[in-house]
Amino acid sequence: LDLDGGPFAGWSPWPVHDDGVLLWVRLDRVGGEPPTRRPAVPARPARGASLAAVYTGTGACEPEDVVANRLDPWHGAWLHPYSFVDLAVRDVPDGAPADDGKDVLLVDVSFKVAGRIVVPVRAAFHAPDARTVVMRIVEGEGTGSVVETHATPLTPAGAGRPRTAVVEAVVAGSDRRGFAVARALAPLLRPAVRATAGRLWRDDLAYAERRHRLRAEGRFPG
Ligand SMILES: [Fe+2]
Repeated sequence: LDLDGGPFAGWSPWPVHDDGVLLWVRLDRVGGEPPTRRPAVPARPARGASLAAVYTGTGACEPEDVVANRLDPWHGAWLHPYSFVDLAVRDVPDGAPADDGKDVLLVDVSFKVAGRIVVPVRAAFHAPDARTVVMRIVEGEGTGSVVETHATPLTPAGAGRPRTAVVEAVVAGSDRRGFAVARALAPLLRPAVRATAGRLWRDDLAYAERRHRLRAEGRFPG
C-alpha cells in the first residue's frame, strides 16, 4: 500500500475468495489476463474430516518450470530418496486430448514415514490449468487426499530474472479411526507437514531454477 500520511488512503479493495484453505486475491489488470470470477479450486476431502497445511516458497524461475518439476513423475525417486521408494510410473497421457480434459499421470510410490516404515499409495497427477498441478491419492492410505500446487508469477511475463511463488496445499483425509485424533492434533501436525513439504521443495525449487537457467541459456531441449 502506498500511503502518503493523509487521513484517507484512497485505495479500493481487491476481490478476494476464501476457499477454506487458501485465500485468493484477484488482481484483475495486473496479471494481463482476463480474470475468472472465482479461482478453479480442485475437489478436496470434506473439511470436517481432513487436515490441511500450506507451504509457501519462492523460486528464481517461471511458473512453467515449477509445473514441469511437478509433472515429472520419475524425479521423486532420485531427487527425494529420503522420502520416496519403489516408484513406478503406471500410466502417462498418450498426447491425445482427453475426453474429460483431464490427462492423468499415474504413479505407484511408497512414502517413507520413519525408519523402514513406508506407506504405499497410487497417486494421480493432473494439471487443471497452466499453473496448477493436483496430485490425488487414488489407492492406499489416505485415498482422496490431495496436494495442490499453485505456481504464481511474481514478476511480469518475460522478466529477465523471474520469480515464482509456490503455494502448496496438502489436504489429507483418511477413513482410519486414528485420523480423528490426528485432526485434533492438527495444530501440532501442521508444522510437521509443512516441514516435509519444505524439505521436498528445497530440492524441487533447485530443479525448477536449474531448468530455467538452462532454458535462458538455450541449453534446454524443446
Ligand atoms: Fe519433487
